[in-house]
Amino acid sequence: MHRTNVVQYTTDMNFELSEEQLAVRDAARDFAQNVLKPGVIARDNEQRFPAEEIKQLGELGFMGMMVDPKYGGSGMDTISYVLAMEELSKVDASCSVVVSVNNSLVCWGLEKFGNEEQKQKYLTPLAKGEKIGAFCLSEPEAGSDATSQRTTAVDMGDYYLLNGTKNWITNGSSASTYLVIAQTDVEKGHRGINALIVERGMEGFIVGAKEDKMGIRGSDTHTLMFQDVKVPKANRIGEDGFGFKFAMKTLSGGRIGIAAQALGIASGAMELSLAYSKERKAFGKEISKHQAIAFKLADMATDIEAARLLCFKAAWLKDNGKNYDQASAMAKLYASSAAMKHTVEAVQIHGGYGFVKEYHVERLMRDAKITQIYEGTSEVQKIVISRGLLAE
Ligand code: CAA
Repeated sequence: MHRTNVVQYTTDMNFELSEEQLAVRDAARDFAQNVLKPGVIARDNEQRFPAEEIKQLGELGFMGMMVDPKYGGSGMDTISYVLAMEELSKVDASCSVVVSVNNSLVCWGLEKFGNEEQKQKYLTPLAKGEKIGAFCLSEPEAGSDATSQRTTAVDMGDYYLLNGTKNWITNGSSASTYLVIAQTDVEKGHRGINALIVERGMEGFIVGAKEDKMGIRGSDTHTLMFQDVKVPKANRIGEDGFGFKFAMKTLSGGRIGIAAQALGIASGAMELSLAYSKERKAFGKEISKHQAIAFKLADMATDIEAARLLCFKAAWLKDNGKNYDQASAMAKLYASSAAMKHTVEAVQIHGGYGFVKEYHVERLMRDAKITQIYEGTSEVQKIVISRGLLAE
């Protein structure tokens, strides 16, 4: 386990957002409210992928936010990414998970660890939003226990022969570029694992069934099958055996994106609850004036602010070249728990209205649950955090 001191302070920490960061937040907010909101209930009902919306987000520079402009990205910092993820997720977590996986797991992994040829060929169209990427680690028998990969990538000289099944893959059918983690040498354990770039259309690569999910129903989550897929050696990321560390390092940043998604779901639920409770009257006054509701709003605001600060801290550490493994795990653990707790409270505040789709909070409640599961369950985050503590 990669360990670091959990508590890292510096006098350079600044709580004021820059003009550029505020502009990114406002652009994401406008897009979420004006473009995503009108169709979000229908997409959720119909389990419809937000293809047109993702295309527009690509054109606006949100699909490769942190990628160097020389590879088609927007060259922004991770704080800006957190701000955008919060705004998009307030309205449509199905859309924001597509943004998150493409940015943090696929683009970041390729930019950080890919070679120049891989960056030109694969990263650039992904960062421009012309193509979508997927990250393929989970398997039927390797979820939290990610070292137990059953998918094999046998070294055949100038190519790997890829066989196996990956489960619950976000962007499963919408992606063109897949980063697939597979075992090459079982004797070497996690040091025998490789990360390979697999293209849609390679012979033997089959996109299987789409999952019928409780939440984030607009995103396309699929099983993927690899049957004797020949993946050129040139598509391996990093040195032979680097695949597990590649996955862990990439997931560490991915957890900042999911933490910000959870933050957005929670703050979206709070904004709706605040507006509703100022309008709805009971026992002769607005329900916001009843302490039972006002205290719920106060608890929401406090947890959301704490989650936001944890997200910013992890993002700041990443932007400043410091270790953020524990900080991103803390942000994800806290923000996802706040999202779950407060979306349930938001439904309660809305009463009967909260139980119907038109009021949005029931969808936010269903969407919140996945943030405690993907990119490492809450229990995995606690493993990462506690190992960091024990190493101090
Ligand atoms: N950076 C660099 N190296 C790291 C690392 C990190 N963050 N974390 C671990 N490593 C290294 C360790 O140093 C170790 O290497 P050495 O032996 O050379 O020192 C190696 O990786 C193995 O580490 P561990 O022994 O700690 O591994 P472990 O098996 O005990 O498990 C775990 C660690 C944290 C539980 C890990 O398995 C894990 O994160 N599991 C969850 C996987 C996950 O998040 N899956 C999500 C799928 S993707 C997804 O959900 C996307 C989506 O759809 C939205």
